[in-house]
Amino acid sequence: RITPVILCGGSGSRLWPVSRKSFPKQFASLIDDTSLFQATATRLGGSPRFAPPVIVTNSAFRFVVVEQLAEIGIDPGAILIEPEGRNTAPAVLAAALHLHALDPEAAMIVAPSDHRMPDTEAFHAAVEKGIPAIEQGKLVLFGIQPDRPETGFGYLELDGSKGDSVPLRRFVEKPDADAAAAMLTQGNFLWNAGIFLFRVKDIIAAFEAHARQLIVPVRAAVEQAEVDLGFLRLAPEPWSGAEDISIDYAVMEKSSNLEVVPFREGWSDLGGWDAIWRELEQDEKGVVTSGGATAIDCRSSILRSESEAVQLVGIGLDDIIAVAMKDAVLVAHKDRSQDVKLAVSALTEKG
Ligand code: GDD
Ligand code: MG
Repeated sequence: RITPVILCGGSGSRLWPVSRKSFPKQFASLIDDTSLFQATATRLGGSPRFAPPVIVTNSAFRFVVVEQLAEIGIDPGAILIEPEGRNTAPAVLAAALHLHALDPEAAMIVAPSDHRMPDTEAFHAAVEKGIPAIEQGKLVLFGIQPDRPETGFGYLELDGSKGDSVPLRRFVEKPDADAAAAMLTQGNFLWNAGIFLFRVKDIIAAFEAHARQLIVPVRAAVEQAEVDLGFLRLAPEPWSGAEDISIDYAVMEKSSNLEVVPFREGWSDLGGWDAIWRELEQDEKGVVTSGGATAIDCRSSILRSESEAVQLVGIGLDDIIAVAMKDAVLVAHKDRSQDVKLAVSALTEKG
């Protein structure tokens, strides 16, 4: 059985004001009534192939995690609590070391919790296709057909095209706009879905080879972890010594034993309001409204009111994001979706 490791410690600041520091996007109902975190746990829960999930999250979200898992009737294998967010590399290594102590032969699948993947069966089939590769000690990634020169993703250069899985020639994390456009034209690149499958011993070996500096602090944080109300609290002192770095930069860009399973069904990273706009049903003018929002002569825009008490009306808008909450309103150009995080930093500075 494969243990799902669900990462849900990110702050999701590009989806402000629905996503808040104390309640980030993965726990919010952005598309329908279930949160992205719940959808992820459900996707990885419905098959005998998967063991109960291990959740890795920030201390601030521990109770939201417990509550949302209870709502969908999923019993976690463990909940690892990070004293502070150090990005995905330390989070993945901590989960791998935890699982390795229980079973050195264990396999894990790392899943981010900010994705939409409506076809669960297709996803399970893709995981099956990756199993022969992990049995040979490879690290398996899932590749998405790109349709725009997105700079927020990792790019996977395939070495060939035949078979259920393909060896990887090169991993490029978050290229600049020119490099992204060039890779899109070249054609033999897929986007990294952000989901990783491997045996715990192989990912630990990859950290030892490419990100040695993380081993000592993260191992100490796991070994000295405190069990508290069912949570496994990583030890703060060694943890604070772990570098803040993503697994993509720390390990994937440097590894030579990567294998890709192409995934052709629906997938989207709901990273910003432009992604939400793309994902939701638009009217014939490309407008998405919800809650108490009304659009008059608008085009290609998203208007949301998250509170019944707030009426939001847009007139003559083009490419605009307008999101109203009871206590905060965002108005931004759709091309500036990635900059919404600036709102959060600006407000944090103001206090
Ligand atoms: N526990 C924990 N701790 N989780 C974290 C932390 C942390 O410090 N930081 C981020 N996460 C979680 C986020 O909540 C999210 O579910 C997941 O890890 C991925 O982090 P993102 O910050 O959303 O990564 P990204 O979208 O910029 O890039 C990754 O995903 C892309 C596809 O969506 C990379 O893997 C890219 O290569 C990939 O294309
Ligand atoms: Mg993401």
